[in-house]
Amino acid sequence: MEKEQYQGPIISLDKVNVSFLKRGFTLGQEKHYHVLKDISLDIYPGEILAIVGESGCGKTTLGKVITGLLKPDSGKILFQGEEVYKFFSTGSGEYRKAVQFIQQDSYAALNPVRTIYQLLYAPIRANDKSLTLEQIEKEMIANLVTVGLTPAEQFLFKYPHQLSGGQRQRILMARAISLKPKVIVADEPVSMIDVSLRLSILNLMSRLNKELNIAFIYITHDLATARYIARNGKIAVMYLGEIMEYSSLQELLTNPKHPYTRALLSAVPVPDPEIARKMKKIPIKTMDLMNLEHRKDGCSFAPRCLFATEECLKGNIPYREENQAEVRCLKKIKEENQG
Ligand SMILES: Nc1ncnc2c1ncn2[C@@H]1O[C@H](COP(=O)(O)OP(=O)(O)OP(=O)(O)O)[C@@H](O)[C@H]1O
Ligand SMILES: [Mg+2]
Repeated sequence: MEKEQYQGPIISLDKVNVSFLKRGFTLGQEKHYHVLKDISLDIYPGEILAIVGESGCGKTTLGKVITGLLKPDSGKILFQGEEVYKFFSTGSGEYRKAVQFIQQDSYAALNPVRTIYQLLYAPIRANDKSLTLEQIEKEMIANLVTVGLTPAEQFLFKYPHQLSGGQRQRILMARAISLKPKVIVADEPVSMIDVSLRLSILNLMSRLNKELNIAFIYITHDLATARYIARNGKIAVMYLGEIMEYSSLQELLTNPKHPYTRALLSAVPVPDPEIARKMKKIPIKTMDLMNLEHRKDGCSFAPRCLFATEECLKGNIPYREENQAEVRCLKKIKEENQG
């Protein structure tokens, strides 16, 4: 009863940290390195949050933490206000069902020796043991129709390799929704499919969000698709395992506050060559990619930041709030200072 009245975020992450152990190539070499650093996020029912960051910054690791596939070293994860790992080391079954993960590689995610029928049967059966076979099959077909695979009967007895990448992504969506989730974490769901099909998968996610009121966390390295899907939602910009800026997408586009966000926005290609020529250069010191293992004290973006000073290289950089955005930067950059 209490849960029905709960109005807050469906998932909250509070100062979540994850580190991995890296073994060396010679004897006696072993090192912990910090992948996610002090991640705090709130996801509300039915909202869309895009998590954007460059390759290797920890996006998939964060997706795994949110879906309960990876337990953080420290920090709290709350599901509907209750701590997920309080009683179980793997989180409760309810949480596992309510929060689904769709991974980038649809081929690896689907067992190649199972037909679509078998792949969709199992989660529906597990979710409700009282269903008859007829009811299960009806639901399977309804889910295939919902994700745009019609006529559904044609797909049921195919194997994953007989489908295209876009169709396999839709099967993953059909499998995820059969557990009636409240949140779907989609990790780069369109990066392995044809550009021409990407929009239709993004539109499918928007539709599932609206029609089934499922909150989506869309993980990507591509700001353009994030802008499209989260146009009415929120965005978190990640850099080397930290969230640098967290706000509504509209606020981020009209008033980017972190120097890294500004660099990201100016790196998005503009189709008109005239406008592109007039645009300012990407405002960063170096194009070299930094690595998580080399992260030092202070702001991890400081080595590439045009505005960095001595104080940016020390300690933990706190978040500051500006226009309902959380920004992990000590500087309040004025317009005229923009690169
Ligand atoms: N199980 C693991 N053991 C050790 N290191 C790992 C493990 N999983 C990920 N890492 C490391 O953690 C860092 C972040 O990886 P992650 O896959 O989360 O990045 P990502 O942002 O999803 O990258 P991409 O955009 O390429 O998918 C990388 O340096 C990666 O090598
Ligand atoms: Mg990844």
